[in-house]
Amino acid sequence: MKGLILAGGRGTRLRPITHTSSKQLVPIANKPILHYAIEHMTQVGITDIGMVIGETGEEVRASVGDGSRWGASITYLPQPDPLGLAHCVQIAGPFLGDEPFVMYLGDNMLQHGLGPLVERFRADPSPAARILLCPVADPHRFGVAEVADGRVVRLVEKPTEPVSDLAMVGAYLFTGAIHEAVRAIRPSARGELEIVDAIQWLLDGGHAVGHDLVDGWWLDTGKKDSLLEANRRVLEDLPVRIDGTVDDRSDLDGRVVVEAGAVVRGSTVRGPAIIGRGAVIVDSYVGPFSSIGDEVTITGSEIENSVLLERVRIDGVPRLIDSLVGRDSEITRSNRPPRATRLLLGDHCAVDLQ
Ligand code: TTP
Repeated sequence: MKGLILAGGRGTRLRPITHTSSKQLVPIANKPILHYAIEHMTQVGITDIGMVIGETGEEVRASVGDGSRWGASITYLPQPDPLGLAHCVQIAGPFLGDEPFVMYLGDNMLQHGLGPLVERFRADPSPAARILLCPVADPHRFGVAEVADGRVVRLVEKPTEPVSDLAMVGAYLFTGAIHEAVRAIRPSARGELEIVDAIQWLLDGGHAVGHDLVDGWWLDTGKKDSLLEANRRVLEDLPVRIDGTVDDRSDLDGRVVVEAGAVVRGSTVRGPAIIGRGAVIVDSYVGPFSSIGDEVTITGSEIENSVLLERVRIDGVPRLIDSLVGRDSEITRSNRPPRATRLLLGDHCAVDLQ
């Protein structure tokens, strides 16, 4: 069985990070989200993986390479424009052939990976497609399934009046029947070829679509808050490891990872938290659910429930919480008069002042 990972798209909901970088490469516990997707594929024995890439394709290629690090082989499938998830299946058609395949959105995370989906398919390969559903509080943001008498009867993309609270999770198992479906459908009102419409086309043609409720947590990390939540979930399971240097004036408490080359001086790190390679934490507090990227420096500051990407500098900031800070950003306190907040912000930034 082959795999298809979608790593293109626009990433508008994660701007400004996605102005300069691929959203699938934003780190969760200091590892790009996309790498978890590849791990989940290889864990179920899928090593022949097609990866759809868009305008951030070069960065994705640089991060993933040929896949041999995971014992996988990656075939890159460039998508000229992000024309929808079903368009990705169209592009991948020649790579996939007629065999069943697993499609995984490169910005989604499933606690238990793809095992349950693939096992269910192996036990009963008769449906043309198999989807996973998850009850959510805000179904209007997702593709939503209507289930009657234990069967999926209708799917609607981002409904204004949702027929149920069952969102479609970003992992699907398709048989070769999907190729005809993605060729048959027309673009939606937002101009995309929707995977929801392709699956609906299967249902309308009398094909069965199997479904299961997802076991464990599922997160679509495409927005800041869900990304921070994914970060919390993954950090909770991280085994303690101290490879860096921690002086005797510092306190590490709970599940903490300090990577090689990192230095913690006169500071408290309360886990779950991870301090990246070459990071320097001085006279600071790093609180629970923080992922501190490689070569970040934090001096005289307090930070909690935040993700800092590589080389961020935080100096003299009394309390930074619930934040996602992009590469090479600086947040400092100078105390020079006049006392004021001075900003140099890119497009689409969000600042919530005290
Ligand atoms: P989405 O999150 O639905 O779309 P998006 O990436 O355009 O993001 P936003 O809504 O914030 O603008 O995409 C789900 C996944 O599929 C994500 O990993 C990107 C990928 N994708 C493609 O590879 N090609 C596409 O044409 C689309 C729409 C998404």
